[in-house]
Amino acid sequence: MKKDVEALNLPYLLHPKLTLLVTCGPFEESNIIPIAWSVPISRTPPLVGIAVSPKRYSYSLIEKYRVFAINVPTYDQLNAIKVCGSVSGRDKNKWEMAKLTKEKAKKIDTAIIRECIGHIECVLDRKLELGDHSLFVGKVVAAYVEEEAYASGILNTLKFKPPLHLGKEVFTTTL
Ligand SMILES: Cc1cc2nc3c(=O)[nH]c(=O)nc-3n(C[C@H](O)[C@H](O)[C@H](O)COP(=O)(O)O)c2cc1C
Repeated sequence: MKKDVEALNLPYLLHPKLTLLVTCGPFEESNIIPIAWSVPISRTPPLVGIAVSPKRYSYSLIEKYRVFAINVPTYDQLNAIKVCGSVSGRDKNKWEMAKLTKEKAKKIDTAIIRECIGHIECVLDRKLELGDHSLFVGKVVAAYVEEEAYASGILNTLKFKPPLHLGKEVFTTTL
């Protein structure tokens, strides 16, 4: 027996998804937003996409400053992910709340998160308004990863446990 999936839960049939911490806004005023809806788009040119709701403060920061950085956290940072996803940077300093450390991005004016193991710095290529989320397409200008968490061009899950979002408040990781 297969049951119909209601529209609200439909995206979760495409989970689990790697939860990312996206940073945006100029270094001093930078903000952090957890993002599960991301997609690699192209290798040449290097393009990646994130789907962001216009309700998010981060949406206005990316629109205004046209840069964002994708930071790959570890499962150990689940608490920081939950904190950053439960308040808005409009009225809270998430760096302090989540106890994360700001570091300057290499190629763009925003912060990256020192505690994360991978970073993709993007310049906004275009925004596609597609529904209740918009797709921000980023042109990758720098990408780097912790050597220990990486082997032969792929993430090494023997050394690093990814925070995988199943949907709602539920997360899992790899064995
Ligand atoms: C695990 C997780 C994944 C999320 N994924 C997305 C997403 O892909 N797109 C989105 O717009 N919001 C997503 N959110 C919600 C935002 O992170 C949340 O509303 C956040 O507080 C917005 O912060 P801001 O107002 O400072 O930008 C997610 C939240 C969590 C906890």
